[in-house]
Formats: sequence, C-alpha cells, structure tokens
Amino acid sequence: MTLVAPSLLSANFLNLAADIEMLNQSEADWIHLDIMDGVFVPNISFGLPIVKAVASIAKKPLDVHLMIVNPDRYIQEFKNAGASILSVHIETCQHLHRSLESIKKAGMKAGIVLNPHTSVSALEDIVNEADMVLLMSVNPGFGGQKFIQHTLRKITTLKEMILRKNLTTLIEVDGGMDVLNAKAVVSAGADVLVAGNSIFKSDNPAEMIKLLKI
Ligand code: DX5
Ligand code: ZN
Repeated sequence: MTLVAPSLLSANFLNLAADIEMLNQSEADWIHLDIMDGVFVPNISFGLPIVKAVASIAKKPLDVHLMIVNPDRYIQEFKNAGASILSVHIETCQHLHRSLESIKKAGMKAGIVLNPHTSVSALEDIVNEADMVLLMSVNPGFGGQKFIQHTLRKITTLKEMILRKNLTTLIEVDGGMDVLNAKAVVSAGADVLVAGNSIFKSDNPAEMIKLLKI
C-alpha cells in the first residue's frame, strides 16, 4: 500500500491544530514538513518552533524536508524538535555521506532529495546509505505547482537501481501530486506520495488522503 504524507505547507496556519487533528484521524501515514530558508529556495516557510509544536500533538511520524543551505548544522535540532525522517537535498551537501551518517546517528531515517534537474545517476554510489530518496516533481519552494512529467522516467530508473542493488530504499515523490497522476507515479515505483494543495484545498481532505492511498 502506498504511503501518503500530506504537506503542511498548504495547511491553515491560523488553525494548524485543527489540521493536525484531521491528519491524526485520517489515513495519512506521515506528516510532511517543508523547511525553506529563502537562500536555497526562493521562499521562507517555517522553522524549528513550528516543528516542535506540531510534534507535540501529531500522532504520525514527522517527515521533514530540508530546503536549506548547510543542513548539517541543524540535524540534531530537528531530531530534538521531533523529526522521525530527515531528508536533505543532494544539491546542498558537500559531504552527503557524512550528512546521512549524522542523521542516522541522531536516531532518524535519512533521505536524499533530488531536484528535477539532478540525474538519478548521481545516486549510484550513495543510495545504499539512504533509507529513502525523495524525487522532486516540481522545483522546490512553493506548493500548488504543476507536476513535471519527466519525473516518471526518473522514478523508473531509480526503482531499477534500487532493485539491482538489492536495497529496500523507499521512493518518495513530492510536488503537484493529485488523484489524476498518483496512479502513474505509483506504477513507476513510488512508495510515498507527498501532497499539499490537492489535499488541503479539497472539500474533504481526509477523503482525498484515502483516494491517494492506491
Ligand atoms: C515544494 C514542497 C512540497 C509542497 C508540495 O517545495 O517540497 O512538499 O508542499 O505541495 P503541492 O502538493 O501543492 O505541490
Ligand atoms: Zn516537500
């Protein structure tokens, strides 16, 4: 069964508690939190105090997606704030092997994120160190963008790599996901779907989560 990780970026920040409660009651598997620094991506979202507040009432694992330069500086702090899965962009890590080691040593699952322009082949000598690979299907920075079709080919290539190496690495896909493209993404090999807009802007978010679990 496909895992669904609703992205809080599209939630109602004036009443975050109600949205977390809805997620707690829903079939969502994880809660996806997007941390943006205004440097690596052209947007600023939220930081550690919000993650901590969410963790205090969330009943699902927090899947934290760091879109910040120098992520190594904050690994322990995100663990302390309540993250279960911490993903860093390959484009921000000079020493990715070391970053993944630090995340795992801190007691979290470690994910590698690839921007749309970064080839899956960049993972050849590092994928075995990751618990998950997150393929961006939009350029990171904003919710509500259009799914980039080429991602499907990247998912297939990555799945082949994971199987060839006999690994159990999860593939997560993030950006522009909805009920219309979910099937193709899952057929290509995705294990976890992140969705913001399609869930929180729908009339019935809990039902939408259910529909995405294909
Ligand atoms: C984009 C973020 C996504 C975003 C997805 O930079 O990484 O997690 O919230 O939002 P939608 O599903 O609306 O594209
Ligand atoms: Zn994200």
